[in-house]
Amino acid sequence: MNIAIIFGGKSAEHEVSLRSARSILDALDDQFNPILIGISKKGEWFLCDKIPNDQVTEGRSEVNLSPGKGLLNVDVAFPVLHGPNGEDGTIQGLFRMMDIPFVGPGVLGSSIAMDKEVSKILLKSKKIPVVDWISFKDEVSVEDVEEKFDYPVFVKPANLGSSVGVSKAKNREELMEATDKAFEYDEKIIVERAIDGKELECSVLGNLNPKASIIGEIRPDDFYSYEEKYSDNSNTELLVPADISKELQKRLQKLAVRAFKANMCEGMARVDFLVENQKIYVNELNTIPGFTNISMYPKLWEESGLDFSDLVTELIRLAVDRHDRRKKLKTTY
Ligand SMILES: Nc1ncnc2c1ncn2[C@@H]1O[C@H](COP(=O)(O)OP(=O)(O)O)[C@@H](O)[C@H]1O
Ligand SMILES: [Mg+2]
Repeated sequence: MNIAIIFGGKSAEHEVSLRSARSILDALDDQFNPILIGISKKGEWFLCDKIPNDQVTEGRSEVNLSPGKGLLNVDVAFPVLHGPNGEDGTIQGLFRMMDIPFVGPGVLGSSIAMDKEVSKILLKSKKIPVVDWISFKDEVSVEDVEEKFDYPVFVKPANLGSSVGVSKAKNREELMEATDKAFEYDEKIIVERAIDGKELECSVLGNLNPKASIIGEIRPDDFYSYEEKYSDNSNTELLVPADISKELQKRLQKLAVRAFKANMCEGMARVDFLVENQKIYVNELNTIPGFTNISMYPKLWEESGLDFSDLVTELIRLAVDRHDRRKKLKTTY
């Protein structure tokens, strides 16, 4: 089977994607033949001999994406792209059009989970608790924020990841700076109440009958910023398993599966929680979570008894399984 591993991309998370892709390539079982496709920061697609260290700028040849000519000869696509243009349903739509099975949630699930506000609205509709928020599309109303929340508040671009553009604002001045910064990355931003408690994560895997892993815990100094996520001298502690009761673990696992379904996910997603005084909130879902060998998604599965290589094989199997299932749908009337 030819597996296209797609990495890089026109995204603020380009570098992270390369690291994730390298781990997936290393873990790929011998039964699979990897085809490496790098997308540059400008958006060009290249067939590559290896995954570059810092960024995709060139390859063996450019990939022909003309409709009808096909996207290479691949059996399954594994998009390892984080953030917009990769995790948000856009590339998933391309694979759907080209009739190529792909790893991770479909078009709708990917775009729902990418938009933090749409995701919350759907979670709320299924009675899954989320942190209270306000969204802004252009003008920010400081009065509205201050009427609704006490400081500190969290400010985020609605569609991004890796904490890019995310700030914790402790007063009005910081709020204005934070909203300006978030607007550099997206046309819509959200402002949320800050939760003072634990940050917990659960990996979910499966299509129609998804399963939850054990729970992991993130202990950042302040909050889990881009620097804390990826720099070598990060002070953040990752605990696997989380230091929580069996009872809380069970509740989180159940809620993770419900959140996965509420956001119409299939394949995989990491469901992230904030827990304050035993009260659970779903913070967000990541449909293409970090995949480096120290990343939470594979680590939680490893500790749940599924090693990295078997996890990758299972994700590929789920991609084919969904594709076969959808093929049975009528396309004529
Ligand atoms: N409402 C909140 N209360 C407390 N901490 C938060 C809140 N929202 C975000 N954070 C912190 O900011 C980090 C990044 O925010 P998150 O919503 O996960 O965005 P991203 O998609 O960029 O990861 C979280 O991992 C957490 O540490
Ligand atoms: Mg996050």
